[in-house]
Amino acid sequence: MALDVLYRGTPGHPLHPPLTDATIGAYSFATVAAVLSKVGIAEPEAATAWTLALIVGLIFSAPTAVTGFADWLRIERGTPPWRTATAHMLAMLIATAFFLVSIGAGYGEGIDGAVTDGAFILTLVGFLVLTVGGWLGGTLVFNYGMRVLNLVEEPASRATSPIPRPEEDAAER
Ligand code: HEM
Repeated sequence: MALDVLYRGTPGHPLHPPLTDATIGAYSFATVAAVLSKVGIAEPEAATAWTLALIVGLIFSAPTAVTGFADWLRIERGTPPWRTATAHMLAMLIATAFFLVSIGAGYGEGIDGAVTDGAFILTLVGFLVLTVGGWLGGTLVFNYGMRVLNLVEEPASRATSPIPRPEEDAAER
C-alpha cells in the first residue's frame, strides 16, 4: 500500500473533506459559544466552551491543512483550479491565524468565564474568513470536480469499501 494513503486517502475516499467537517464544526461551535457569551446566555459556561472549541479546532486544523496541502501539490500550477486552491489555502491560513490570536487574546478570561471584546471580534473575523475559504473549497469539489470519481454504475459494496482501488486513480481529478 502506498504511503500517500496516510495523507491523501484513497480514490473515492479522500481524507481532506471529512477532516474539514471536524475543523469547521469546532470553529462554528466556538463562534456560536462566543455570541452566547456576549449576549449573556449560559455564562460562564459559554466562554469556557468557546475556549475549548477553539483549542479543538486548532488541533484539527493541523491534519486538515496537511491533507489539503498534499492535494494542492498535485494540481497543475497556474490553472484556474490551482488559483482557486491557492486562494482557498490563503483564506484558511488567515482564518486559522485569527482563531489562534483570538485564543491568545482571550484564553485566561475565556477559561474563567468571559470572552473579551477583542477576542470576540477576532473570532467573528476568523469565522467570516473561514466561510470565504469554505466557499472556495466547495468550488474546488463541486465546480472543478477535484477528487470526485462520479462512478454512478459502481456497486455500493465496492464504492463504500475502504480497500484502495488503484485502478481508479486514473478516474480521479
Ligand atoms: C483549516 C484548514 C482548512 C479547512 C477548514 C478547509 C476546508 C475545505 C473545504 C470545506 C473543502 C471542500 C470539501 C467539501 O466540500 O467536502 C476543501 C477542499 C479542498 N481544500 Fe481545504 N481546507 C483547509 C486547508 C487547506 C489547505 C491548507 C489547502 C492547500 C494547501 C487546502 C486545499 C484543498 C483542496 C485541494 C481541496 C479540494 C478537495 C480535496 O482535494 O480534497 N485546504 N477544503
